[in-house]
Amino acid sequence: MTNIKIIISVILLSIFGYALAQSGGGMNHAQHHSAQTTDNRVAVDFPPAMREHILTNMRDHLLAISQIQEAMGKGNYDKASKIAEDRLGMTSLKLHGAYESSKYMPQGMKDIGTTLHKSASQFAIEVQNSAVTGDLKPALLALSKTTNACVACHAGYKLK
Ligand code: HEC
Repeated sequence: MTNIKIIISVILLSIFGYALAQSGGGMNHAQHHSAQTTDNRVAVDFPPAMREHILTNMRDHLLAISQIQEAMGKGNYDKASKIAEDRLGMTSLKLHGAYESSKYMPQGMKDIGTTLHKSASQFAIEVQNSAVTGDLKPALLALSKTTNACVACHAGYKLK
């Protein structure tokens, strides 16, 4: 009898212990994650006016992405194409004074900027094709390549 009680308690304890270790492990895991949010981005120094200019552009980039999605949702593929080309694509470079601001960027940052503009121009073409073929997939892939460039630059760089 006693032996059986001991065996049962050992089993119960190990189950309880296992559950505790699991929840404890979960907590450690979460803590581990927050520790990983250390900011490793390269801080880039821009003159104050340029800084304002870039951040204003950035907010317009996000607005443009949102307007592109809205236009696509409404089947306005030409409109989506035009927003992408004019506000994010190669055509946007002059509008954004990109040559001026790129002087202050490290090469890696410039390259990601170029990827953004090229991908947006590619999207502008693909979404016009969608209007003809009815297939949105290539346009969506090009759009995700565009937003990947946003993500990549934000992961690597920040303003001082
Ligand atoms: C070549 C680099 C680069 C690319 C590409 C880029 N960004 Fe940024 N973005 C930045 C930097 C640097 C900041 C400032 C971040 C900081 O200092 O914490 C920023 C900030 C922003 C902000 C905050 C603006 C504010 O007022 O604080 C938004 C919104 C934003 N980006 C949207 C976008 C979107 C959307 C895209 C893609 C369509 C994009 N960005 C592409 C570099 C980039």
